[in-house]
Amino acid sequence: MLASQQPAVHILNNTRVTSGELNYKCTKTSLPCIKPPPTHKVRSTLILSILLPLTVSTTTFFSQVLAGTFDTEFDITWGDGRGKVLNNGELLTLSLDRASGSGFQSKKEYLFGKIDMQLKLVPGNSAGTVTAYYLKSKGDTWDEIDFEFLGNLTGDPYVMHTNVYTQGKGDREQQFNLWFDPTADFHTYSVLWNPHHIVFLVDGIPIRVFKNDEAHGVAYPKSQTMKIYSSLWEADDWATQGGRVKTDWSNAPFSASYRSFSDVDCCSRTSIWNWVTCNANSNSWMWTTLNSNQMGQMKWVQDEYMIYNYCTDYKRFPQGLPTECNLV
Ligand SMILES: *[C@@H]1O[C@H](CO)[C@@H](O)[C@H](O)[C@H]1NC(C)=O
Repeated sequence: MLASQQPAVHILNNTRVTSGELNYKCTKTSLPCIKPPPTHKVRSTLILSILLPLTVSTTTFFSQVLAGTFDTEFDITWGDGRGKVLNNGELLTLSLDRASGSGFQSKKEYLFGKIDMQLKLVPGNSAGTVTAYYLKSKGDTWDEIDFEFLGNLTGDPYVMHTNVYTQGKGDREQQFNLWFDPTADFHTYSVLWNPHHIVFLVDGIPIRVFKNDEAHGVAYPKSQTMKIYSSLWEADDWATQGGRVKTDWSNAPFSASYRSFSDVDCCSRTSIWNWVTCNANSNSWMWTTLNSNQMGQMKWVQDEYMIYNYCTDYKRFPQGLPTECNLV
């Protein structure tokens, strides 16, 4: 069953949101604007209070996720036929040639959630190509959570570039090599975004955390809904080895593939007044922080595979590193 055919679940205390921004009053059951509660005790109370009214939607929502997701959940927004939905909506491909790249975006807007997508990147000589996969809100003071995959010559490693924008301000790049060939198979790239932190995960392994440091004056995304976007485009002026290696168009068209999208654990809406999903069975995602095992995994990735970290780029920030870099 499609999300649009389900009765809308109003997670906002049965109050419709009528404005574009989520600036309604926070109440105990208005999930998207719950602030990180101070203690675990408070947390469990809040979870219980939101769990009960939502249980109804869960079963139908699961069956929708397993169906052809790309038909129902995304729009191909540009590329004049270069983006394609295949296999009854189970697979999406983007392509790039000399004339154009292509891209898609989600129909839904999200405000917190865990979003999984499997990507298989452009194989072979992908130098100069960029596959961007990100969440972004609208306006001049937008929030954004970015994965960008910078192609390379055959056999040379991709660079996975990450960034976080809050209130229109980015400059928070961290770059990684991967511990596998991202062009040989599909791998899962996830964003966990809750009131505590944003976690970037690759195949379930956390690679980066952007904490909610509002208490220290760092803006945190918590009130603007974001859509999911992805595009395959050409950026050979900077992407590969700093722009020295150019795109070889004799390899075109370049193609990247997407499958197994999941937004089961999310708060999302299909229009500005209509919230449709907030999974009741596993809403621990809303409060979860990393356990020590995950912290260990992240340390492994950052020790072994991180190739750039804005938080250690003292030359770039002669006035001092950004505030969040000095907080643990
Ligand atoms: C491409 O390969 C070179 C050589 O291994 C490496 O220095 C570079 O970081 C790789 N990635 C990009 C996007 O240039």
